[in-house]
Amino acid sequence: MLIKNIKSLLQTSAPTKALRGKKLSELKRIDNAWLLIENDSIKDFGAMDTCPETTNNTIDATGKMVLPTWCDSHTHLVFATSREEEFEMRLKGKSYEEIALAGGGILNSAKKLQNTSEDDLFNSAWKRLMQVIKMGTGAIEIKSGYGLSVEGELKMLRVIKRLKEKSPIPIKANFLGAHSYPAEYKNNHQGYIDLIVNEMLPQIAEEGLADYIDAFCEKVAFSVEETEQIIKAGAQYGLKPKIHTNQFNCMGGIELCVANNALSVDHLEVVNDAEIECLKNSETIATLLPSAPFFLSDPYQPGRKLVDEGVAVALASDYNPGSSPSGNMNLVVSLACVKLKMTPEEAINAATINGAFAMELQNEYGSIAVGKKANLMITEEINSLAFIPYSFGKDSIEQVIINGKII
Ligand code: NIG
Ligand code: FE
Repeated sequence: MLIKNIKSLLQTSAPTKALRGKKLSELKRIDNAWLLIENDSIKDFGAMDTCPETTNNTIDATGKMVLPTWCDSHTHLVFATSREEEFEMRLKGKSYEEIALAGGGILNSAKKLQNTSEDDLFNSAWKRLMQVIKMGTGAIEIKSGYGLSVEGELKMLRVIKRLKEKSPIPIKANFLGAHSYPAEYKNNHQGYIDLIVNEMLPQIAEEGLADYIDAFCEKVAFSVEETEQIIKAGAQYGLKPKIHTNQFNCMGGIELCVANNALSVDHLEVVNDAEIECLKNSETIATLLPSAPFFLSDPYQPGRKLVDEGVAVALASDYNPGSSPSGNMNLVVSLACVKLKMTPEEAINAATINGAFAMELQNEYGSIAVGKKANLMITEEINSLAFIPYSFGKDSIEQVIINGKII
């Protein structure tokens, strides 16, 4: 398939490290371009004066832009049901943390998941996966974390494994047994950590169910010392950490993660100068999730500051039933510009190639490069790339191509 007369072919870089600082602000592009797909991959591309002979399978992209699909490196896409009753409680003044402490929130989702079959979980997650692909997501990470028991966590991870096997886009599985303490372990934290370490992890490793390990390092969830135990146990099985931290409190989670070579630290609504200093001198990616503070009416991540200080920043949706019931990466990119004060170029880099780095998929996804998977988006006719985040709430994507096929 040949795409020709492309107004701008965006993101034609193939960096060896996640972009940061000035490099994050540069979005490599070719104006008036063509791109050739062979089978499921990008065969070649260039400026129109070098365009190959027209084949019978040609798309004329006059006035349109082409860019790689979004790489959404943080989601909780497998869950039993929505939680709009908590949304209404919050609208009436209750906070997310209050609801969590009263047994709602993650524990509410865990209760619902317990009574849901693996097949039902798979079917609802599959629908969500198809929806986000249509909105331009071409690679995704999915976490467990609503099981909170040996069988519940294994059930979720087996659902993710089935999704992986059937999905047209790559999926990375992240084991989040340490999402919240189940009620019966409220006063026996070590008991639950032992369950994760001695019961869950060995089985997960034996069945090859996880690529990464996660924990919710927060006052309402796991302390820094508890998170450290989880990270160290994961390391025994070769699982790199990608950790929820600094959503509501600065507790030392970032320093812990950096010291343990975490692939990413995720959320960062609150972050202090010492933590920024620590992050900018590391390879750990700061994955910002602006739709969570949007939905919870919390302060937004200091995206501008993190970028200016030279931290490697990625953007992800955090798709989950409690804090971000949306997997729309187009909205995430708009929020990053409007609320995190990132430029359109920075936001697109953070949501494509840096998201790919945050899933270790940068060699096959996240940019336009020869040999990479042909996972692409074709926009409507637009005047400039800034129109992509500008047209918030209504994405400007006209066609999504996955593995070289229009979907
Ligand atoms: O990333 N903060 C922890 N976990 C999720 C929310 C989980 C939920 O509310 O169900 C998050 O925001
Ligand atoms: Fe999350």
